[in-house]
Amino acid sequence: MYIREFVPSDLGRVYQIEVESFSNPYEVAMLQQLYEIGAGFLVAIEDGEVVGYIIFWIKEEGLGHIIALAVDKKFRGQHIATRLLMMAITIFKNCDIHRITLEVKSHNDIAVSFYKKFGFVIDRKVPKYYEDGSDAYVMFFNTDLVNN
Ligand SMILES: CC(C)(COP(=O)(O)OP(=O)(O)OC[C@H]1O[C@@H](n2cnc3c(N)ncnc32)[C@H](O)[C@@H]1OP(=O)(O)O)[C@@H](O)C(=O)NCCC(=O)NCCS
Repeated sequence: MYIREFVPSDLGRVYQIEVESFSNPYEVAMLQQLYEIGAGFLVAIEDGEVVGYIIFWIKEEGLGHIIALAVDKKFRGQHIATRLLMMAITIFKNCDIHRITLEVKSHNDIAVSFYKKFGFVIDRKVPKYYEDGSDAYVMFFNTDLVNN
């Protein structure tokens, strides 16, 4: 497995993984737009196929934001998401970003466990954050916790 930057021909696979991973997936046009506006966009490749991706950007001065992170169901549990997140954090650190935030559905136990294991901490719960009425946890991570 290796990680590289997203290219437009990856869009179909990324969208497939997005749809299988989220109950309210981003539209394909939105994923393309995120790429076009210059968001950080990395894909994990196994045997020539996209098996995971991470999208991130700088939200405000000094603050990075994880927009989306997902791994193909068949490839979960192999630390692919960990490697994608580590790579994004390396890029953030190179941009002098020391604080990273994200929102995750509060009942998405697997994702919450994943981020906690990584070192993210829950800052607060935002009721009805998502369109389907579910609540979000806002989580933070201090990039000084990892050495490159
Ligand atoms: C969350 C997600 C990205 C994790 O991807 P992954 O590549 O399987 O995760 P990793 O293998 O890197 O897991 C790292 C750690 O997270 C935790 N974790 C991962 N999957 C877990 C599970 N099913 N149950 C409990 N803990 C889990 C474990 O502590 C794991 O470490 P360990 O394997 O040493 O025990 C993946 O499950 C996914 O795509 N989910 C759907 C999309 C989503 O919810 N994205 C996150 C919200 S934006």
